Amino acid sequence: MAIRSRQRLSRFSSKVALVAVWVAGMLLISMSPFALNLLPSSPEWQVEKKARPMTITIYTAPAPFEGRQGQRQMLAIYSWLQLNPRPSVVLLGQDASLSKFAEPLAPFVRVDTEIDFTFLGAHMFHTMVGRARASTSDIAVLIEPDLILFPDFIDVLGYSHLMQDDWLLVAMSRNVPSFPFHQQLPEGPWLIKSNNVVETEEVHAYVSQHGQWTACKGGQLWAWNTGKVPLHAGVMPPFVYGQGQHNEWLLNEALTSGYRFVFDASEAFSLIYPQDIPKTVQVTQTEEVDKYEYQEWGFAVNAHLARHYGSYFFRPANFSNLPVKLFKCGGPKSKKFCFWDHFKHLSYCFPPELLLIAEGQGAGFAGMQAAEDSYITSFRRYVLGKTWKYFPIQPHLLGARRNLPFWKNFVSGFRMSSNRRSTCLQDNFTVGAELDCPVSRVKEPLPLNSHLASPFSLESLLSRVANSDKVVVLAVVGNSYRDMLMSWVCRLKWLKLSNLILSAVDDDIYEFAILQGLPVFKSGPSMNLSFNDCHFGTECFQTVTKVKSRTVLQILQLGYHVLLSDVDVYWFKDPTRELMSFGPGTLVAQTDEYNLTEALNVPRRLNSGFYFAWSNNATIAAFERIVKHAATSHMSEQPSFYDVLCGVGGKYRVGTTLCVEPLTNLTVHFLDREKYPNGAYKTLWENENVAEVCKQQGCVILHNNWISGRKKKLARQIASGLWDYDDRGRMCVKSWHSSGQIHLF
Ligand SMILES: *[C@@H]1O[C@H](CO)[C@@H](O)[C@H](O)[C@H]1NC(C)=O
Ligand SMILES: *[C@@H]1O[C@H](CO)[C@@H](O)[C@H](O)[C@H]1NC(C)=O
Ligand SMILES: *[C@@H]1O[C@H](CO)[C@@H](O)[C@H](O)[C@H]1NC(C)=O
Ligand SMILES: *[C@@H]1O[C@H](CO)[C@@H](O)[C@H](O)[C@H]1NC(C)=O
Ligand SMILES: *[C@@H]1O[C@H](CO)[C@@H](O)[C@H](O)[C@H]1NC(C)=O
Ligand SMILES: *[C@@H]1O[C@H](CO)[C@@H](O)[C@H](O)[C@H]1NC(C)=O
Repeated sequence: MAIRSRQRLSRFSSKVALVAVWVAGMLLISMSPFALNLLPSSPEWQVEKKARPMTITIYTAPAPFEGRQGQRQMLAIYSWLQLNPRPSVVLLGQDASLSKFAEPLAPFVRVDTEIDFTFLGAHMFHTMVGRARASTSDIAVLIEPDLILFPDFIDVLGYSHLMQDDWLLVAMSRNVPSFPFHQQLPEGPWLIKSNNVVETEEVHAYVSQHGQWTACKGGQLWAWNTGKVPLHAGVMPPFVYGQGQHNEWLLNEALTSGYRFVFDASEAFSLIYPQDIPKTVQVTQTEEVDKYEYQEWGFAVNAHLARHYGSYFFRPANFSNLPVKLFKCGGPKSKKFCFWDHFKHLSYCFPPELLLIAEGQGAGFAGMQAAEDSYITSFRRYVLGKTWKYFPIQPHLLGARRNLPFWKNFVSGFRMSSNRRSTCLQDNFTVGAELDCPVSRVKEPLPLNSHLASPFSLESLLSRVANSDKVVVLAVVGNSYRDMLMSWVCRLKWLKLSNLILSAVDDDIYEFAILQGLPVFKSGPSMNLSFNDCHFGTECFQTVTKVKSRTVLQILQLGYHVLLSDVDVYWFKDPTRELMSFGPGTLVAQTDEYNLTEALNVPRRLNSGFYFAWSNNATIAAFERIVKHAATSHMSEQPSFYDVLCGVGGKYRVGTTLCVEPLTNLTVHFLDREKYPNGAYKTLWENENVAEVCKQQGCVILHNNWISGRKKKLARQIASGLWDYDDRGRMCVKSWHSSGQIHLF
């Protein structure tokens, strides 16, 4: 409600004149509700009469431009570029073929890589929506990449753009099994067969005739007026795009939240999926590639998220969630539109010469009891068995509703309206677009067991994520560090590193990582770790750190080199090249010594939270001994590292920066503290501007250690600005973010 009132305030100041009309209307209502019949249109439904200029940006997440799918996407995007006004098109994705496609179409088409992906490269839907929400044009559109649009889409947007209230349009496509047209140029005409020109109207007429609804697809196009009002309450969980549930979830939450007027425009314009398309010379490769590689994992993740977040899963089995439908009235060429509810009981038309219509028995939903107010916002919920009781108009109710936006007053408006039939009633609606699937079909595919498991073994994960040098960046992490983990992951993504792999020490973090699309495996039998008390020196900490060396050994034995980094290590740059430059005989590690007058390799100052280990016999042998040593020790593994590699009391030390372990000749090189400082070195963390100072002295990384307690550690890092995760949006911080705040306490 707070959002709503703020929104209304801002509208108030920006549109004083219109509001004045509205207020005058409201006064009339409170004096006499029935006076409204005399007005040309109801004041709740105050719209500007003239078309307003509008800017449109279309966001889409294409598959690589290859094969049939690539060709379909090309047809679709060319059709978008022919709209007037011409929209900007933003291709969300990181595949090289996207830039290649977009380049000649600049500035109308561009590529934006700043969204999140799963480690398998799938787009994450919540960041796509987030990106589109940050749009600066008047209208943002999020559409599947292979759907063709016609000029009637602009009519619908223009109409929607007249509304004073915030709106969200949803539409699903019709399938045209055999689509005989193609285009060769973005601005070119539609062509058929051996390049005969066809008018857009003819193409449109063809698809109108041949388009078929496919049930239960969910929304495939979303459009909304930009601005502060969210599409829905709460936070969208990190759905994997194209793996089910997210469209249904978004529709449900948008309707339930009631922040915006949600309507289904599927039947008001043509949104076309061209199934079978002509082969053109431009695409040599013609095999069918699937739009989204079906990922059982992604499907399970989405089902899990849909079950656990928001109200989607919890709607009563008896309820159907259908938004108001927008129809065109007066034939295909008409630009008049009406809204209808599911049972065609209610409608509202604009331009207003098509007045409100009452159809069906009783007073429709107008009379739903005031106590059920939550159920009538935006008409969203209909009991399939029509068990609601209707009751006759009560004028005092109208007064009570007068400060609601028009669509919540839809009901009252209807009741005051004339019963004149509109031309629209004679139109035949091809009611086929059912956005909302029967509840049974929605609920069944959601697996009931709530335990998620990654289908990947450690070996298969390693082979997928390792870089061409067979290096992986490993973090061993427990649930108490999940926010740290995410910030660290986001930082690595920002540095364009994709070879990270996570080892989960408990079930919670394991599941969390799966739901974030991260490559994760279990370190071993799950442990019971307390959330806030797993810091340095505690028993819990000792257990976790011992898991680290065991996990590293396991990976080294599988033939992969390991850059181990704790998640409290902030990376300024990618250190991999530098760490590898010491060569395979050397294990490079951070020193925990901070005293400037002390050597780097003094006893027990080997930090086992940041090091690079080669997969070779000497290193593997050394790790076997470290693991063995740690297993019998009552301390963390850190002393075991030192005692095995540098000898008890540092007897294998060489100079101030090395140790050479005599059994294998494995050399330990302690990293330069200026570039790889630990958390106590030069009290860097106490600087006002940590990042600045650290960068100036050449930091490659900065360890946030030498501090006790999870919260203090977290607070210090967030305060420093060395933080890259938006925990509210559950996504990496993006340059397009406006909500920079981080709320972890
Ligand atoms: C649907 O609602 C009716 C009336 O409220 C009730 O009798 C029936 O049991 C409900 N059905 C289901 C599946 O919940
Ligand atoms: C509407 O549909 C009915 C039957 O489906 C048909 O008889 C009638 O002619 C149609 N009306 C128009 C205007 O198309
Ligand atoms: C974990 O701890 C909880 C409560 O602290 C306890 O009930 C549970 O049995 C423990 N589980 C294991 C596997 O130790
Ligand atoms: C650093 O070490 C020297 C001896 O090597 C000692 O005198 C000095 O107090 C230490 N400084 C700190 C801050 O611990
Ligand atoms: C490494 O160890 C394996 C088995 O222990 C052995 O077969 C191989 O020859 C060793 N490689 C080197 C370079 O010593
Ligand atoms: C270690 O190096 C020394 C001297 O360079 C050499 O004599 C010894 O054989 C080496 N040991 C191993 C295990 O390679």
